[in-house]
Amino acid sequence: MSPEITWHKEAVQLYKGPEEDKLFRVETYLTRGFEIINNLDDKVLPVKKDPRILLVGIGRKSYSVACSYTPFVVSAYLEHLGAKYKMIVVDILGDVINDVRTRENIYVLEADMDEDDLGDPREKEYWGKYLSITRQEDRIVKTPEEGLEIIDTYASADFHFARGIHAARIPTGFKTKSQTGDISFIKDDIAFADLSYYTPFDYIDCNNVFYQLVISGQMMAIVNLAKSLNPGGILFVNDIGDYVGNPLFAEVGGWLDDEKLQQIGLVKEDFEMTKHEIEDGRYIDRFTRVGTFLRKK
Ligand SMILES: C[S@@+](CC[C@H](N)C(=O)[O-])C[C@H]1O[C@@H](n2cnc3c(N)ncnc32)[C@H](O)[C@@H]1O
Repeated sequence: MSPEITWHKEAVQLYKGPEEDKLFRVETYLTRGFEIINNLDDKVLPVKKDPRILLVGIGRKSYSVACSYTPFVVSAYLEHLGAKYKMIVVDILGDVINDVRTRENIYVLEADMDEDDLGDPREKEYWGKYLSITRQEDRIVKTPEEGLEIIDTYASADFHFARGIHAARIPTGFKTKSQTGDISFIKDDIAFADLSYYTPFDYIDCNNVFYQLVISGQMMAIVNLAKSLNPGGILFVNDIGDYVGNPLFAEVGGWLDDEKLQQIGLVKEDFEMTKHEIEDGRYIDRFTRVGTFLRKK
């Protein structure tokens, strides 16, 4: 990768970090962890049994319970496979990083699994998988406990306790690996985060993060991630920036085209665009979800 890329140099001059009052979106779901597992199964594990993984922007909220999932699900799966992995977790928010550092249990509300309650039925299937790969029984929580924070604005905590809250421990090796440094946590903006101590990565997941960055920040972030990858390594990026006015990929009006990708040593694989509509009574918001794997040459 040439250090003289003009667009990157300009971005470094321009980008000063997010605005002070920026509200970050932190939604995440158990299902997201299993999407990463699919990516690892398809793209990484066939060639790299003991991968080095970077998770960027992990989130800490499902529909109605405050909880991070992806680091625990990925860790559970790799432990189950007996892999000697290393994993670095980056998030701009201290609350998110502290959640992952200190959490003992993960939780899914029964309502989140129930289609009739606007939940996602895949959550039930994936909860069963999580229990199976971590060799645990489902624990149903009926009263408040430390680490369980219900944030539903429509239904009361009592409602959720009555329906049942599913709990399971984080994977057994997670705490040990956090102590040895095989799992590490960085609270920083991915545009600025110094990853040099931990590189190179075989897989980087950056799902639902780029649309939260202004364009100069996106430019710095993608260069940071590209230079942190092993040759042959994979960066998964998704974007809905055309919804919020800062699209990433040239295919939807953004700045990142194949030439710029080539300058930073990345090639697109399995580029997917899907159209979405959100109706809110009088208006219909239309946007495109873009997801792609970027492979380092
Ligand atoms: C919507 S959540 C997505 C969580 C998870 N990747 C998923 O898809 O379920 C976005 C996360 O990215 C984090 N984030 C936003 N901008 C970031 C940045 N510039 N650097 C690092 N993390 C960022 C937010 O704090 C939040 O935890």
